[in-house]
Amino acid sequence: MQSVEEKRRHKRFNSLNLSYVCVDESGRIVYEGMGRTLNVSESGILLETHFPTEFGQILSMTVAFEENLLNLKGKVVHCREGRPGKYETGVQFSELEQDVTEIFKQYVAAFERQQQISSRPIFETDFFDLMLIKRGKVRDMYDLGDSLLMVAADRISAYDVVMPEPVPQKGKVLTQISLFWFDVMKSIVKNHLISADPDDYPESCKPYTDILKGRSMMVLKAKPIPIECVVRGYLSGSGWESYQKSGTVCGIALPQGLKESDKLPEPIFTPSTKEEIGVHDINIDFEETVKRIGQDLAEKIRDLSLAIYKKGSELADKKGIIIADTKFEFGLLGDEVILIDEVLTPDSSRFWPKDSYQPGGSQKSFDKQYLRDYLISVKWNKQRPAPFLPDEVIRNTSQKYLEAFRFLTDEDHLF
Ligand SMILES: Nc1ncnc2c1ncn2[C@@H]1O[C@H](COP(=O)(O)OP(=O)(O)OP(=O)(O)O)[C@@H](O)[C@H]1O
Ligand SMILES: [Mg+2]
Repeated sequence: MQSVEEKRRHKRFNSLNLSYVCVDESGRIVYEGMGRTLNVSESGILLETHFPTEFGQILSMTVAFEENLLNLKGKVVHCREGRPGKYETGVQFSELEQDVTEIFKQYVAAFERQQQISSRPIFETDFFDLMLIKRGKVRDMYDLGDSLLMVAADRISAYDVVMPEPVPQKGKVLTQISLFWFDVMKSIVKNHLISADPDDYPESCKPYTDILKGRSMMVLKAKPIPIECVVRGYLSGSGWESYQKSGTVCGIALPQGLKESDKLPEPIFTPSTKEEIGVHDINIDFEETVKRIGQDLAEKIRDLSLAIYKKGSELADKKGIIIADTKFEFGLLGDEVILIDEVLTPDSSRFWPKDSYQPGGSQKSFDKQYLRDYLISVKWNKQRPAPFLPDEVIRNTSQKYLEAFRFLTDEDHLF
């Protein structure tokens, strides 16, 4: 078990969290973990923690904050079980010595500064000490030697053009939703995640911890398979356009008489090529996929894509979201196929609220459709440069992404 001092050393670059050890009368450690102060006032300090205990209990705690180790007695002022097995516990320390209060005041000020930094929208990152290898439409990728650092900025693109302003919280929403799905899907396929906790990243990343928190992942370096693995469960977007012309999507014949946004009898795999930024991906049929990457690999990524979509869309459905279609990317790690990039996010998928679903037209959505509709309303020609977006459009887009996150994960707080 780590001592408080060890924990403090470990958390040196993350000093805005507080580590604590809680002992009983005989000095035995009963809980240890990380918490954060919620409130510092004349009546004391409230610490938010996550262990199960009882209202009114008096606890002896050793709390570490930067260079300080404080032995305090606190009273449990609330403790409730949030999600199963997750506790929200408030410990109040009162009648503190003046110097202890001062220390905590400093802590809270630093915490608030950090909150401000980490909630500031990030258009792009430029980490001086790290090697940027690619700036995608949304993500900045850095080379960490054996692994990659993938940072989701708050950029948003529509029709393959990046908009000039960032959407607050978007990068964090995408990262947290992908993490949620990587975990759900690990019984189906291995993924590229090594860690999303900046404390685990190499030393060279430490100066950027505040920015990285919540929006980054350290991932395995894979060789991306150059096919966008699109799965459609409903008829929309380029699938609907193609169906109207030919009754098929990517060479797959569909029943006659389907309406826009109709559910398909079975989810279908409709791959496309992966083109460079600014060039639209091109829909291809399965035969063309085989030509490009070989029969075995094509079958493998098709089967995995359908299995992931099936599991994901069933789970999302229970939470009131229809995942109409989505796109996966896979990579090779030696001979092994792993899931890379992002998974079932509002950027890579169409998310429709189930309660207002009405086939026969376009749907309300938690994704970029709102932005696309705005761009259509101002008659933008879909060529660079993109127009500046009104504050209201940015604010509402941010809200839509946050809503998708809340619906799916049942979490209220992003990071
Ligand atoms: N584990 C990984 N190993 C190697 N490359 C990866 C890995 N995960 C993601 N990538 C690549 O990193 C890039 C991420 O950037 P981003 O998501 O902004 O991509 P993009 O291709 O510009 O946009 P889009 O996702 O809309 O096609 C992609 O090119 C993706 O293929
Ligand atoms: Mg991508």
